[in-house]
Amino acid sequence: MSTPIEQAADILSKAKSVVALTGAGISVESGIPPFRGKGGLWEKMDPMEVAHIDAFMENPKRVWDLLIKDMKTVLDKARPNAGHTGLVELEELGRMKTVITQNVDGLHQVAGSSDVIEFHGNFAWQRCLDCGQSMPTGQVDLAQSPPQCSCGGILRPDCIFFGEMIPTEALVRSQQVSADCDVMLVVGTSAMVQPSASMPFIAKDNGADVIEINPEPTPLTGRISNLHLMGRAAGLMPKLVAAVRQRLHPS
Ligand code: OAD
Repeated sequence: MSTPIEQAADILSKAKSVVALTGAGISVESGIPPFRGKGGLWEKMDPMEVAHIDAFMENPKRVWDLLIKDMKTVLDKARPNAGHTGLVELEELGRMKTVITQNVDGLHQVAGSSDVIEFHGNFAWQRCLDCGQSMPTGQVDLAQSPPQCSCGGILRPDCIFFGEMIPTEALVRSQQVSADCDVMLVVGTSAMVQPSASMPFIAKDNGADVIEINPEPTPLTGRISNLHLMGRAAGLMPKLVAAVRQRLHPS
């Protein structure tokens, strides 16, 4: 009986079009806490009070002080881990086309993935609520709370808050690549937040194999995903890549 990694490698090595859907779990080993589960951000605070657009518009200073400043400190230090680089290696092997990520940390691009759909935006930029001008997060003056644009308007991260629409292009392209892939690799997401959680359903409905990498089961496990590699992305991904490489280029 082959192991789940061997079975996943068999599927991936024969695949023509592979798409990944990633979530906070893939960046945990880069030092970024997840949202749900043990040590998750939403254990300590209510997302409706700090990550909903209405909460931000009502009191931007509070949301900057409780959430965004800490996010900046954590994300400034974060570097890609073996989970991110594993997806790049799969791309080099011709077995990864597009990464759809719910993460706003930009680590897939830093690692070298060439086609990344940022479903929830990117924290690297801030946008002025008044004039709309964008500014790199690194240039924001944190001494002010909430930080302001040169026009005096309040800055907000260029990410999606709860209660906001997913950028149309990201949504439409994600639906397209999910429908067109023959394998979807779902890494480090609890698959609890819509509409990103619907991408594996779209893939499955269109005949794709769905492979999960996650230390915990999710609502997809055993229903939508036909394989669950149980463990941490940074630990499992190098083993999966090695097994795919071995099948494509036997030594
Ligand atoms: P969650 O925090 O909901 O889920 C993280 C998942 O990663 C869980 O299923 C964990 O079991 C798993 N996990 C933890 N450590 C891992 C590791 N080392 N390797 C692999 N998996 C690991 O994060 P998301 O599913 O990304 O949205 O959350 C989706 C959205 O909810 C986020 O984009 C954010 C959040 O609220 C907004 O803020 C709009």
